[in-house]
Amino acid sequence: MRPSFVRDTLTLVSLAQLAVAGGLYTLSDSIVGEDFYDAFNFEDISDPTHGRVHVSNYVDSATAQLLGLTVATANSFIMRADDTTVLSPTGPGRNSVRIRSNNEYTTHVAVFDINHMPEGCGTWPAIWETLEADWPDSGETDIVEGVNNVSPNQVHLHTSPNCSIPSNIRQLGTVLTTDCDASVNYNSGCGSALSYAPNSFGPAFNAAGGGWYALERTDDYISVWFWSRDSWFTPVDVRLGSPVVDTSFWGTPAAYFPNTDCDLASHFGPNNIIINLTFCGDWAGSPAVYNASGCPSTCVGEYNPQAFKDAYFQFASIRVYQ
Ligand SMILES: *[C@@H]1O[C@H](CO)[C@@H](O)[C@H](O)[C@H]1NC(C)=O
Ligand SMILES: *[C@@H]1O[C@H](CO)[C@@H](O)[C@H](O)[C@H]1NC(C)=O
Ligand SMILES: *[C@@H]1O[C@H](CO)[C@@H](O)[C@H](O)[C@H]1NC(C)=O
Repeated sequence: MRPSFVRDTLTLVSLAQLAVAGGLYTLSDSIVGEDFYDAFNFEDISDPTHGRVHVSNYVDSATAQLLGLTVATANSFIMRADDTTVLSPTGPGRNSVRIRSNNEYTTHVAVFDINHMPEGCGTWPAIWETLEADWPDSGETDIVEGVNNVSPNQVHLHTSPNCSIPSNIRQLGTVLTTDCDASVNYNSGCGSALSYAPNSFGPAFNAAGGGWYALERTDDYISVWFWSRDSWFTPVDVRLGSPVVDTSFWGTPAAYFPNTDCDLASHFGPNNIIINLTFCGDWAGSPAVYNASGCPSTCVGEYNPQAFKDAYFQFASIRVYQ
């Protein structure tokens, strides 16, 4: 008896040491296949960026389904850009889809099980959380964002003034910028690149079969994790989509935003989940960025449908826990 008792005690002690933060959350929204149509509002707006009036023309739900831009099956939801229409440089933008969750979330966990994310020169996909009507005072967390196939993924916060992150934090990612204030540094926000994980974005993410992104937001910290599809570190509750998850066993996050230099409770309010795919525009299409991405000529690929045949998200699920 004694050896086993000792062993169990040691196990408990080491688990307790690992469990520095985090906790138990219960499933509140399980969004799979057709559920996306109920859980999200399709924002049929045009995404204006500089230079061109409308880069993306976001369509409504009925149009998206009619044009095949969204397809729901029993276990997946595809959301893509139009990849057949040749656009004129002066005409309307490329049809695409932008969805915003009907529910708003404060402290919560969100797990995105993604089989494929948009790729191609000129693509600029994003999975993020904010409250558009109260930006930036209700905060913004960019969970997945990048342009022109360039890995790794970047995770950022954008907030009202007096919010920053320390440059030396316990996370896997590499800090890029520390001031989260959206009104300074051209709204670059604070955040990190997942340089340790080349398969965290774009073609490399897709080649690996996708993976999981997870967010945990509390008043004390915001954490984002990434696990590639075959990662041995993927927590079992994440892999199984369990009804209860325990973030204290999820390990060191890819990006960590502690409340040491930012009162998160006053910088973040209720947020929606937003997923959108735009093209070129201020970031992806800026000539320097586009060129540095190794993309040919300028971001006129925007007019060429061939460039967008792989510009689609395929979600296995989105699960929110509270
Ligand atoms: C800035 O935030 C800190 C907490 O992080 C707070 O103590 C301080 O009063 C704030 N300053 C202003 C000017 O709001
Ligand atoms: C998503 O929408 C926001 C707000 O309209 C816009 O600033 C951003 O460029 C869009 N991003 C993507 C990747 O579509
Ligand atoms: C990027 O710009 C440089 C200098 O103008 C040019 O030599 C190079 O070919 C460009 N790269 C691509 C991929 O277009």
